[in-house]
Amino acid sequence: MSGKIELRGLTKIFGPEPEMALKLARDGLTKHQLLDTMGHVLALKDIDLDIEAEYIHVVMGLSGSGKSTLIRLVNRLIEPTAGSVTIDGQDITKFTANELMEFRRQKIAMVFQRFALFPHKNVRDNVAYGLEVQGIEKKVRHTRAQEWIERVGLTGYEGRVPAELSGGMQQRVGLARALCAGAEILLMDEPFGALDPLIRCEMQDVLLALQAELQKTILFITHDLDEALRLGDRVAIMRDGNLLQDASPEDVVLRPADSHIAEFVQGINRGRALTVRAILSKGHIDPHIATSGPHIPAAMALEDAAALLAREGAATGLVVGPGDQVMGRLTLAEITQAMTRPAVPA
Ligand SMILES: Nc1ncnc2c1ncn2[C@@H]1O[C@H](COP(=O)(O)OP(=O)(O)OP(=O)(O)O)[C@@H](O)[C@H]1O
Ligand SMILES: [Mg+2]
Repeated sequence: MSGKIELRGLTKIFGPEPEMALKLARDGLTKHQLLDTMGHVLALKDIDLDIEAEYIHVVMGLSGSGKSTLIRLVNRLIEPTAGSVTIDGQDITKFTANELMEFRRQKIAMVFQRFALFPHKNVRDNVAYGLEVQGIEKKVRHTRAQEWIERVGLTGYEGRVPAELSGGMQQRVGLARALCAGAEILLMDEPFGALDPLIRCEMQDVLLALQAELQKTILFITHDLDEALRLGDRVAIMRDGNLLQDASPEDVVLRPADSHIAEFVQGINRGRALTVRAILSKGHIDPHIATSGPHIPAAMALEDAAALLAREGAATGLVVGPGDQVMGRLTLAEITQAMTRPAVPA
């Protein structure tokens, strides 16, 4: 299946002689070897990735793994050393300066970790900035900005400047600004990374609620696994410029591609990260064996399902799909077992 954004062989090397370094990287030199021998940084190596329209695709990895490099290549803030970035069938690495400018104005918006708001513009003008750049008249700009200000919960703060707002509120402005310009694609580079845990969680809720309605194509970067699993329809995991796994959040947790990822997911709260659907084995999908018991929505988190069964005093529940059709059954024991963390093989 092709994606809305397709990355093919995407490679970025920082240093004065990237072509020569590229040859060595293709001969098999690692990031560390390349740094030692040539002082070049292999920030991204040969990435193939499809980002589907209307989903949140999270890119996760430790500091220095290449996440920001990847996102900067997607809106061509930097040029690739090799490979292509195709968006809606167009290779943006071939765009002329004018085409690139149009593309950035119309199609793509960015939300940054440090908000990057205009300090002297008030909330309304920050939110309306994208429309200003598009040459839209002031009255229309302000009406549209107002809609987004309301949507992100900032009504009453239109005239304030960023310094008068908390971090969470500033990022609401950042989000409203990105949405107000009408871009289909949002690039978010650790947008909630600078926020306190509680506010961060609140902003995740804001984003999920908006996304349920707007269905933007979102490339979301984080180094927080819980955030990745909570927000991502898909999660791509990177290390040292390589893509290690690109899968559903459930697969990352239940079927980690290597021991590094297994170690990473070891500590997460499975009860919250996994849904009932994820652990429903095929053998259970037999409507005849499942006739009674509380109904558990398939999309429910394991910990909520366990609580539901405990509350009802039931040992078995029926897992149901969106139309309340029975998909199978699960016992409380199966659910609690899936919530406990497995031992990591030595
Ligand atoms: N302009 C640059 N010049 C030289 N090296 C760079 C440059 N930008 C990034 N790098 C290097 O490329 C690698 C990937 O960096 P990148 O910023 O993409 O990582 P990241 O995953 O976003 O990390 P973080 O979580 O800290 O933001 C790192 O080794 C970094 O030092
Ligand atoms: Mg970064």
